[in-house]
Amino acid sequence: MDSREVEVHLALVLLTMMMMMIGIVPSSAKERLSHGEIYRRNLLANGLGLTPPMGWNSWNHFDCNINEKIIRETADALVSTGLSDLGYKYVNIDDCWAEIHRDDKGRLVAKNSTFPSGIKALADYVHNKGLKLGIYGDAGYFTCSNLMPGSLGYEEKDAKTFAEWGIDYLKYDNCYNDGSKPTVRYPVMTRALMKAGRPIFLSLCEWGDMHPALWGNPVGNSWRTTGDIRDNWDNMMSRADLNEFFAEYARPGGWNDPDMLEIGNGGMTLDEYRVHLSIWAISKAPLLIGCDVRNISKDIMDIIANKEVIAVNQDKLGIQAKKVRWEGDPTIWAGPLSKMRVVLLLVNSGPSQHSITAHWDDIGLPQNTVVEARDLWEHKTLKQHFVNNLTATVTSHGCKMYVLTPVL
Ligand code: GLA
Repeated sequence: MDSREVEVHLALVLLTMMMMMIGIVPSSAKERLSHGEIYRRNLLANGLGLTPPMGWNSWNHFDCNINEKIIRETADALVSTGLSDLGYKYVNIDDCWAEIHRDDKGRLVAKNSTFPSGIKALADYVHNKGLKLGIYGDAGYFTCSNLMPGSLGYEEKDAKTFAEWGIDYLKYDNCYNDGSKPTVRYPVMTRALMKAGRPIFLSLCEWGDMHPALWGNPVGNSWRTTGDIRDNWDNMMSRADLNEFFAEYARPGGWNDPDMLEIGNGGMTLDEYRVHLSIWAISKAPLLIGCDVRNISKDIMDIIANKEVIAVNQDKLGIQAKKVRWEGDPTIWAGPLSKMRVVLLLVNSGPSQHSITAHWDDIGLPQNTVVEARDLWEHKTLKQHFVNNLTATVTSHGCKMYVLTPVL
């Protein structure tokens, strides 16, 4: 080869490598890849979770006290309140839905005393309302309640059962496992679901133990980055902080999950619940309502039904915001949105109100950019335009949330 030929050859090799890195495999290279390699590359090619999932989950409010009536009434309520039209589509049954023993063919069985009609009937009911049904399993021998079997060693059987029942979402927990690494146990379920013939959103509930953000992307559509949330300010804010650490790993198809929403369960003030939804929205976290939506107050409804905040969570760009500055109690969170916009969240964790200033060089806006600010909780576009910084007074345990749009 002369030097020109070497250059062309090198360019082709580089191009092939780049195409392979972004998942385009030229046919000549494909022949050289083993079946296993191609399979691994597409481990979770289920096309789901292009924006964070939205819906409801039974655990935070009902714990193990669930039955099919509650699930059906919740589906009814999601539709009648209009929440499903806002995107809250998944109706997710958490722990305690199954008998402790499998049937004689080794299949999971719905608990007869609480789910007598079976899960398939429930899936049909939920689907007829235009909603989706989620279920809960575990990558160990028992689920965390210790009241139903886990799927370890039964992954293919259970994935097939879930697909046959019409399940759309699987939350996959980590209790009572055999001590092997989650990086070994979880992909077994991923592959089983891929073979089961139905796209099922896979939510890895590994509590952040082995930093699933680092390996979760080809394995699940979301991964818990923290232990369980509790319905109080300190716990909620600590989930938010732990989750923020992994911001750059979130992307369409795979999201960081700081756990489900506690809004409406009574342990926080309305201002605190607004902060809760705001941080989850900008963090591109799953928005899974955790209260009893059959009995919801207007105040709580106004929070979880805030269309403008939901739109930030569902923004097509799918980039998780970061905590860009903290000065003790006041913190500033920001992230890019589609159409050159920026979402800005000012949070006050202190005991009294605080004036907080966001500077453009902290939040990713070029100097001298003039912006229009939309206040997402007041539902008002501010009359004044802003350049280089924006200052607001924020109440104790409250927030101000803005979408900033450059004025051209
Ligand atoms: C674990 C999970 C929770 C919930 C319970 C159910 O603690 O992290 O979200 O699913 O198990 O037992």
